[in-house]
Amino acid sequence: MPVPIWLDCDPGHDDVIAIFLAAQRSDLIGISVVSGNAPLAFTERNGLTACQVAGLATPVHRGAAKPLVRPAQHAEYIHGESGLDGPAIPTLTRKASEVPAVRALLDAAEKHAGLWVVAVGPLTNVALALLLEPGLAQRLAGISVMGGTWGPGNVTAAAEFNVWADPEAAQVVLEAGANVVLAGLDLTHQFVMDRGRIAQIRALGTQTALFSADLLDYFAAAYARSYGGPAQGPLHDPCSVLAVTDPHLFASEPRHVAVECAGEFTRGMTVVDRRTGPRVLPPNATVLTNIDDEAAFQVLMDALGASL
Ligand code: RIB
Ligand code: CA
Repeated sequence: MPVPIWLDCDPGHDDVIAIFLAAQRSDLIGISVVSGNAPLAFTERNGLTACQVAGLATPVHRGAAKPLVRPAQHAEYIHGESGLDGPAIPTLTRKASEVPAVRALLDAAEKHAGLWVVAVGPLTNVALALLLEPGLAQRLAGISVMGGTWGPGNVTAAAEFNVWADPEAAQVVLEAGANVVLAGLDLTHQFVMDRGRIAQIRALGTQTALFSADLLDYFAAAYARSYGGPAQGPLHDPCSVLAVTDPHLFASEPRHVAVECAGEFTRGMTVVDRRTGPRVLPPNATVLTNIDDEAAFQVLMDALGASL
């Protein structure tokens, strides 16, 4: 029986592939979009585009146009001004739902027992839902978050973009008492799409595979421009979908994770307590440490090769 998932995202190249994956591997109840990789108007358009390319009827709901406290920040250096630069974007025929994201998410949690929230953008929408309905933390089966790192960051030396963009929201989610599963950069950088894998995806020939290959061509080149090294891109957001649909692919550790909200140089840093012994803080998250990269790639290939 496919797991019911609510996908909160900021499409975003890797977010779109997470949508394609969730559509195939789960019961995708709804999608909400948030300001992150690009402004909300673009993440809304990009979420609708993903559903149109995949032939998905899943409703798309508008969420927050800015973080809880701070001004909106974007990642055009990776995703382009539109948040989905690179592929040809089809003329949009789909429209977003008129039901706001937080309302729709709370209704879905009421209606679907065992619902997982997969959050792969800044956590503003999820934090607002938890603040509005404190019982949500216990009602959900879990919250699978793409965010944070215990090593180097990607937007600063210390912080990963999703947590950095809205650190207060990440703090709310980690302190809500929910079953949080965290895929940080240490994990997602184990699941990399290089030119060879992109060619394998393109050869599948389905609409979602062809669109994904175009996305990844742009994404890989942007990574090389921004970080140096070969043209290859880590598939961050699909890891958080797989953590729910295919948990056997991962190793993990229970850890306490705190979010730095006050630091000048460490804003958005996730401080993971990896100490041993009696002074270690009680865990508030399941931190994913390893992914079976080859097996995960086969799952992705099966999903992109299937037509909806
Ligand atoms: O740091 C990686 C995360 O930031 C991914 O979710 C990517 O889509 C961007 O939102
Ligand atoms: Ca994202």
